[in-house]
Amino acid sequence: MENIEMAEFRIRFLPGRKSAVFEKGITLRDAALALGILIESDCAGIGTCGKCKVEVKGKLNPPTAVEKKLLSRQELQKGIRLSCQALLVNPCTVIVPQSSTSIGDQILTESGLQQTPLNPDIRKVRVELPEHRLGEKYFVFEQLLTALRQKNILVAHFPLSAVRDLTQWLQQGKRTLTAVIDQNQLLAFEPGNTTDVLFGVAIDIGTTTLAAKLIDLTRGDVQAVASAVNPQRAHGADVIARIHYTIEHAGGLKQLN
Ligand code: FES
Repeated sequence: MENIEMAEFRIRFLPGRKSAVFEKGITLRDAALALGILIESDCAGIGTCGKCKVEVKGKLNPPTAVEKKLLSRQELQKGIRLSCQALLVNPCTVIVPQSSTSIGDQILTESGLQQTPLNPDIRKVRVELPEHRLGEKYFVFEQLLTALRQKNILVAHFPLSAVRDLTQWLQQGKRTLTAVIDQNQLLAFEPGNTTDVLFGVAIDIGTTTLAAKLIDLTRGDVQAVASAVNPQRAHGADVIARIHYTIEHAGGLKQLN
């Protein structure tokens, strides 16, 4: 039987200096994605946007019809290629332009104190329990519900985890508890008075960037901000291009997830 060995070559990406060995024939774009390198693209690699330009030092496949259409003669002479069209046939160095490496540079990064009007569904209510003796657990439950009712909180059901927590706090002799309420649903009990410790997270999932803010729900202060480039960006600039990617690529849906 003929022993067919698949040729492999190294690609070095600049300016990040990432490099790896790939099978002959892989597109430079797919190789970059495999290394987590984002190359600008609006068409998810189907060869219509002309944005995935890279400069290549080394021999590749001849420019395709798509490249001849979307790149100027001067660009081709300078070694500019469309990374979704250029195929690995020899070791090469790929220079990713600044337009790609700066994707996401405008992401929200500031934190600080911004006052936000608040009306959160989640709230905390301090509850004082009466003295109780061993075996009076159910009496205490009743007293607890009454105390919440007096604060206009009608608890329809006790989650099992809250019952367990409550039992534990009672056994430890704790009499000051904080009930965590979502509208009129009891979520949990916390020992002591924790009414001034209540945080929420606001998450913005954008097609280009992801951003999250940690907000103090007792005062409305933004405590921290975190953001990142949406990893799906590599597979198209918009939702349509990404759907197209999942249709065109086996396993594409898994990649986007
Ligand atoms: S032309 Fe290459 S990704 Fe759009």
